[in-house]
Amino acid sequence: MTDSSTPPADDAPVPENPLPDGANVDEVVVLDFGGQYSQLIARRVRECGVFSELLPHHVGAEEVRRRKPKGVILSGGPASVYSPEAPPLDPELLNLGVPVLGICYGMQLLAKELGGRVESAEVGEYGRSQLTVHDHGTLLKDQPDEQPAWMSHRDTVYTPPEGATALASSTASPVAAFEAPDRGLYGIQYHPEVVHTPYGQQTLQTFLRDICHCDLDWSAANIAEEQIRLVREQVGDGKVICGLSGGVDSSVAALLVHKAVGDQLTCVYVDHGLMRKSETEQVEKMFGEHFQVPLVVVDAKKRFLERLKGVTEPEAKRKIIGTEFIRVFEEEALKLAVGEQPSAEGTETHVSGDVAVEGARFLVQGTLYSDVIESGGGTGAATIKSHHNVGGLPDDLTFELVEPLRALFKDEVRAVGAEIGLPERMVWRQPFPGPGLGIRIVGGEVTEEKLDILRECDSILQEEVRAAGLYRELWQSFCVLPDVRTVGVQGDERTYGYVVAIRAVTSDDAMTADWARLPYDLLDRVAGRMVGEVREVNRVVLDITSKPPGTIEWE
Ligand code: XMP
Repeated sequence: MTDSSTPPADDAPVPENPLPDGANVDEVVVLDFGGQYSQLIARRVRECGVFSELLPHHVGAEEVRRRKPKGVILSGGPASVYSPEAPPLDPELLNLGVPVLGICYGMQLLAKELGGRVESAEVGEYGRSQLTVHDHGTLLKDQPDEQPAWMSHRDTVYTPPEGATALASSTASPVAAFEAPDRGLYGIQYHPEVVHTPYGQQTLQTFLRDICHCDLDWSAANIAEEQIRLVREQVGDGKVICGLSGGVDSSVAALLVHKAVGDQLTCVYVDHGLMRKSETEQVEKMFGEHFQVPLVVVDAKKRFLERLKGVTEPEAKRKIIGTEFIRVFEEEALKLAVGEQPSAEGTETHVSGDVAVEGARFLVQGTLYSDVIESGGGTGAATIKSHHNVGGLPDDLTFELVEPLRALFKDEVRAVGAEIGLPERMVWRQPFPGPGLGIRIVGGEVTEEKLDILRECDSILQEEVRAAGLYRELWQSFCVLPDVRTVGVQGDERTYGYVVAIRAVTSDDAMTADWARLPYDLLDRVAGRMVGEVREVNRVVLDITSKPPGTIEWE
């Protein structure tokens, strides 16, 4: 065993190249053998300034060749190269005429394929290890002889492939790095992509610059112009609709498209009443007034509250909010596309700017590269169904998708956002779940009163976290309102008020998280303000659970 996730299935779909035809950028393909860090390898390559794509291991040399890559990286993976289920190496990959770097399992595959000796070691090597470089070769040039490196493997290379030079060893790996420059083959047992390998990024950079001869000039920010040009080409003089949530992805997607086609775009923002304090106003101000994007704000608060009446079970709540949201958005999109129609029951719309998308056939989606990898998803069309509560609409309408963020990882979307002028506050906004405050009112039904209490408390927390300069350090910081009241004493009077919980976590990707050690004086200020300023609240508690076992949200 080398790594702890599962390799992509043999029939895992192959994502299309997210770059447009004829894009003039150097690319390196990372083949995913199931390592838990495979996405990270692709991101690190991009951080070096080279565009990268992550493809499932089984795609074969032909598919890789179509990308015209300047190099190929084989990722780590959980299998033993000797297991019958081990994902194999297509030997044709070694005949593409470009350098190949194997990492961990990838290195073992190379060694085994080319006549080296790979065996299961007595002891696995997991975590921090010490690397001793005996011969720097090209791959490890200008690096110290002794350096820490992160390992995660049991199979070990004992002899490098024929003609290759062993470069380094570690406590449990006789051959921890090798190279055969004549054949363009390179292998490292350790993980260069993780922060615990301090010279890892340098190793990747050497591979990309000095071995693959890539130009290190790719960056998400400098493809913004290219994306704008492409959207213009795709849309022509067509009309476009974009769902705006106020989050960073949809905001950046909307702004890119607006820069491309101006008022041919109309954004639709659905206020389900589960937003945080002033959030709707901020979106209206930012997009409607500041960026002058034609904007339809759908006030659907009543409709959502009505649907949520009496519902307490978390999954039921999520389902109702999700379904209702899609309904409202689709109704509005359809109305815009076919011309003005009356608002559905329980909704009101406010329009700012010159909304003129009758006949719209394009729909913007903020699909990210991580979504593309996970779904293997092709790009294409979305069919929006009309619902029986809106009269006079066609049965369904097909929109062509515009996905300007398909090639980008989340941190790259932020870079593009900053590049095209999205204010820092939006670029660095913490994630906020689609069902909003609906899943932060727990154990009881969602009511307007509770939403107001939660909004006030949440706004105090955000204000203080920002004032303490901690907002960007935290993955998320928010309040939860359980359906619990406790006894208190305020101004000599007995009170029976709500308990508010503070949840603040640090995380890299939300898969795991740790509770944030917020300073005591900050907590003190926040709690004091909440019980002082929000009449219904008389107690504040702190959630000190990590994920796992807790989730970040309470529902
Ligand atoms: P959990 O609670 O599962 O959350 O640890 C992980 C991350 O996902 C966010 N989250 C959601 N985001 N729609 C979203 O867009 C949802 O339904 C949803 N549920 C959870 C959560 O805020 C955290 O960042």
